[in-house]
Amino acid sequence: MKNGVVIIGAGHAGVQAAASLREEGYDGPVTLVGDENELPYHKPPLSKTFIKDPAAQPQMLRAEIFYTNNHIDLRLGASVERIDLSARRLELAGGATLPFDAAILATGSRPRELKLAGAELAGVLSLRSVADARAIRELSGAIEDVVILGGGFIGLEIAATLRLGGPNVTVVEAQDRLLGRAVAPAISAHVRQRLEAMGIRVLTQTTIERLEGVNGHVSAALNSHGERLPAQMVIVGIGVVPNVELAQAAGLTLSNGVRVDGQLRSSQPEILAIGDVANYRHLFSGTDVRLESVQNATDHARLAARTIMGHDGHYDSVPWFWSDIGDMKLQMVGLAGASDSTVVVGDVADNKFSVYHYFGTRLIAIESVNRPADHMLGRKMLGAGFSPRAETVAAGADALKAALAEAQKEAAA
Ligand code: APR
Repeated sequence: MKNGVVIIGAGHAGVQAAASLREEGYDGPVTLVGDENELPYHKPPLSKTFIKDPAAQPQMLRAEIFYTNNHIDLRLGASVERIDLSARRLELAGGATLPFDAAILATGSRPRELKLAGAELAGVLSLRSVADARAIRELSGAIEDVVILGGGFIGLEIAATLRLGGPNVTVVEAQDRLLGRAVAPAISAHVRQRLEAMGIRVLTQTTIERLEGVNGHVSAALNSHGERLPAQMVIVGIGVVPNVELAQAAGLTLSNGVRVDGQLRSSQPEILAIGDVANYRHLFSGTDVRLESVQNATDHARLAARTIMGHDGHYDSVPWFWSDIGDMKLQMVGLAGASDSTVVVGDVADNKFSVYHYFGTRLIAIESVNRPADHMLGRKMLGAGFSPRAETVAAGADALKAALAEAQKEAAA
């Protein structure tokens, strides 16, 4: 009997996995279980356009008819409570069960919780879901001061978006620079300077000691230098943690996420894990990674469908990511962790430049600010395993394209 595939989590990864199973020709039952009551939607716009536009609606990943037409049993507002490995079935809240031949964990991640006095006050919010974004949108129209805890992508996207609506915005970052986990110091410094030019106050090497409230609603944040920052809204963007609880209870191997092999199988081969929750050895860098990006989610999903169909390909996609912060489109490709030298091209003062990261002579990543052509060419170069010399990078796009074409011709010969 064919019980089919169940996918746990209806975010970018889960929805793409369902679609890819059908594209790959899988003809058994496909069930997609999501705990929100919304038709699955795009997450990136939530911290950008959605929170400033009262009329904005969530953007659907797929129209409702897509699920019907493709015989994808979409179970919204349904929460999986347990994976019963021996019986090969899921137990849902409310008592229903779902048998499976293979299961895909696409459970994603959730905002790291703020653990300090006052964190429970009304007006202390984080952003992950459309419900969170609605809460931020509703409150932001009625306040004067916002404190944003965490100078990562989420915090800075929200800071720039909210600032345009008028409130005073203060970003509080524990490390000595913004976006420290993700980009080169030159980009951190540039982003800080532009945010400050928008009137956003940026405090680095600073944390919040406690939050104060009036009538149960946040009113101020006391920072680690003893300063009281007025705040009728505090947004917590201090990173995310993978949703591993189901996997953990089922006894799957964990390691900063659910550990998977090159085909995205967990330690239990009929259970795969994809997207934010999956930790794997990246072929590209040789390191263990757990990446939080739409690209990672959707490329994982495509490979997971192929694994279930019996193909033996290994995950080797080049990672890329983007973020819109005020008037800066940041685009990152590759993994810069091992960077030991950089080449900067473009004009920082003009808000258009890219940082090329090398490990020895190998190009490993490119981070761009408002230089989308560099990013696109970077994806091609890294995908082809091509490392241009620093002089070629400095010579500009035409020289780079010519060098890439030459290298590809040689490789094909
Ligand atoms: N006080 C102040 N800053 C803190 C604290 C703290 N107690 N704890 C952590 N931080 C800072 C970190 O130093 C880091 O700069 O919060 C920032 C969190 O940044 P990210 O790790 O990039 O996480 P976040 O911005 O929450 O984004 C989470 O959402 O945009 C998506 O997928 C994207 O990975 C990203 C995810």
